[in-house]
Amino acid sequence: MAPFWNLASVLVLALAAALADAKTVDGRLHGNIARRPSVPIVPAPVDAPVTSHNGTALPPYNQTYLFDQLIDHTNPSLGTFKQRFWTTAEWFEKGGPVVLFTPGEANAQPYSGYLTNRTINGQIAQELNGVTIVLEHRYYGLSNPYPDLSVKSLKFHTIQQAIDDLEYFAKTVDLPMAGGDALKPGQAPWILIGGSYSGALTGFTMVNKPNLFQAAYASSAVVESITDYWGYFEPIRQFMPQNCSADVQAVIAHIDQVFTSKNTKEIDSIKALFNMSALTHLDDVAGALRNNLWDWQSLSPSSGYGAFHAFCDALEVKNGVSAGPKGWGLAHALPAWAAHWTGGYYTDLCGDEDVVTCLGTYNATQEIWTDTSIDNAGRSWTWIVCNEVGFYQEGAPINHPTLVTRLVQPAYDERQCTYWFPEAFPIGTLPVPRVDQTNKAYHGWFMNVNHLFFANGHRDPWREATLAADGTNFRSTPGQPLAISDGFHCSDLSTTNGNVDATVLAVQKQALKTIAGWIAEWKPTKH
Ligand SMILES: *[C@@H]1O[C@H](CO)[C@@H](O)[C@H](O)[C@H]1NC(C)=O
Ligand SMILES: *[C@@H]1O[C@H](CO)[C@@H](O)[C@H](O)[C@H]1NC(C)=O
Ligand SMILES: *[C@@H]1O[C@H](CO)[C@@H](O)[C@H](O)[C@H]1NC(C)=O
Ligand SMILES: *[C@@H]1O[C@H](CO)[C@@H](O)[C@H](O)[C@H]1NC(C)=O
Ligand SMILES: *[C@@H]1O[C@H](CO)[C@@H](O)[C@H](O)[C@H]1NC(C)=O
Ligand SMILES: *[C@@H]1O[C@H](CO)[C@@H](O)[C@H](O)[C@H]1NC(C)=O
Repeated sequence: MAPFWNLASVLVLALAAALADAKTVDGRLHGNIARRPSVPIVPAPVDAPVTSHNGTALPPYNQTYLFDQLIDHTNPSLGTFKQRFWTTAEWFEKGGPVVLFTPGEANAQPYSGYLTNRTINGQIAQELNGVTIVLEHRYYGLSNPYPDLSVKSLKFHTIQQAIDDLEYFAKTVDLPMAGGDALKPGQAPWILIGGSYSGALTGFTMVNKPNLFQAAYASSAVVESITDYWGYFEPIRQFMPQNCSADVQAVIAHIDQVFTSKNTKEIDSIKALFNMSALTHLDDVAGALRNNLWDWQSLSPSSGYGAFHAFCDALEVKNGVSAGPKGWGLAHALPAWAAHWTGGYYTDLCGDEDVVTCLGTYNATQEIWTDTSIDNAGRSWTWIVCNEVGFYQEGAPINHPTLVTRLVQPAYDERQCTYWFPEAFPIGTLPVPRVDQTNKAYHGWFMNVNHLFFANGHRDPWREATLAADGTNFRSTPGQPLAISDGFHCSDLSTTNGNVDATVLAVQKQALKTIAGWIAEWKPTKH
């Protein structure tokens, strides 16, 4: 099937994509929509000439290639679409492995650093003389079967089709390098790498396609699909400054108590304090305060002072003095939080958007839900969320300490699914994602395969959906090691994080050694 665009329009779209993506960095899309578990962006060095081992000049890292991917793996007669990829043979030598990575739920263009030794991917390739590939996931960026993201077009956006893409790519691609047509699995060992959702996809692929990849590395892999994912905020609560945690809990408890009372005067005064009087729904008001906690997801060992620290300092540092572990208490923390919110944070979050557009979730005709144009990672991800994985980031159960409002429960997000995709989920219903089916198909927490290296970080807000979740006690085994650093979300994918955090470096060293061992065991097979 002919693609609906030509090369020139691809280049124009690429420019638009770079701009549009700024709005969805770290999964931030609209002020009140659950975060994506995205892989941190690592760009390749710009303008650096790429040179192979033997001194030959190679194409730049940002050279885009197109692969003819099947639209529907259950019905190849539907034809193909152009799936973008990037690759480098910088370290390649005959006999070396092919290192395949997809960033998952994002436009893949800014991820070219995952070709280089700025990431674990390139470290592995450098050590084992491999070739690296970054493959854009179907329905993200410019890798789309159809020209829009309408419900009709999203028909083939499933986890299983994405797994099948990886297999078909590995078995079919002729890599743009000398001898690149003789590097299929069986001819060369393949290594699959992913982080976050694509880390889960890596695990799912090892379960679903045995013997395809000789080795795999899954960072912060959210393998267990969970509808009511209040556990997102648990690692944050455990590792944030104690005083800040105590005060956030006190403020939220107070807001929940007032918002569930009939005291309109007190309700209105809290709304006014945060300049959210125009919002009619109190779950939107209280839910918006999750943003300060969501900022934790942008932290890494090398990220330095960020929005999360500024928030805690705003609550805890008074006249240059920092509160003790119990915090200052409600009387200081509530107005301090509101002052921080209205004193710049709101503008950072929403730009010049009014509060109803940015934080309201009850207007079904708002553009956020109705815009079906491509390269909208939030929309594509939400399709997977509403159907297969859930991960709604809500208040903790009643007997558990909570950093976020209990007014926000799965129904809050399930209602939004009906606005995004009314043709699939009629408005007025509350569609529950099929998480049980997903966990059954790919084994969730209980996956147990060979040659799969799991890396996690204690401070990762997605940890509760990984094999390092509290209370699960999954064991590290030689075939499926589980290595945990003090890092955050996917911290171990980045070389820089290893350089500043010894626990991350230890995970990376263990991974390099383990994967080298698995690759050494590989033997070619006849095709
Ligand atoms: C790659 O990056 C260089 C330097 O920023 C730029 O001039 C060039 O147009 C880019 N090439 C592609 C194919 O994007
Ligand atoms: C990373 O790769 C670059 C070439 O792309 C090389 O110059 C550099 O020495 C490598 N870094 C390490 C630590 O090996
Ligand atoms: C040098 O390396 C490049 C890239 O791996 C390869 O295409 C080329 O054949 C090599 N040249 C020689 C003379 O080995
Ligand atoms: C109190 O909060 C400040 C500011 O975030 C932090 O630097 C400090 O470590 C915290 N102290 C305690 C005891 O929690
Ligand atoms: C409060 O919100 C209104 C409109 O939503 C805006 O015009 C105004 O600048 C905001 N005030 C503050 C102090 O942020
Ligand atoms: C809902 O959003 C649409 C599109 O932005 C707008 O035209 C309409 O006025 C909004 N409705 C309400 C009640 O705010």
